[in-house]
Amino acid sequence: MTASGEHNVDLGPADLADGELREATAGGLSLVVARVEGRYVVFETWCSHEECPLSDGWLEGEAIRCACHGALFSLTDGVALEGPALDPIVVVGASVTADGRVAADVSTLHA
Ligand code: FES
Repeated sequence: MTASGEHNVDLGPADLADGELREATAGGLSLVVARVEGRYVVFETWCSHEECPLSDGWLEGEAIRCACHGALFSLTDGVALEGPALDPIVVVGASVTADGRVAADVSTLHA
């Protein structure tokens, strides 16, 4: 994946270690940037269950655990691996630019 896509937005420095996440904003969206086994992913911060911020959660392998009620979402395809959430979240892949920035097309994420 390249960082030159016309829809890519800058999501801050690519300074996370594997298993770390942080909040980011772009285009009015509240997002989470996470590094999962060497790759960066981006997803909307609001859990699909009752909209707790997933930025308060933590990574478990290639998944994010919601801190509110314990739902677990895949960071490969966004599906809810464990309830109580039933609906998926939208996860997009991000790239790292030559100058060390996280960049992603977040146009498929919702406000
Ligand atoms: S709000 Fe995330 S599991 Fe309930």
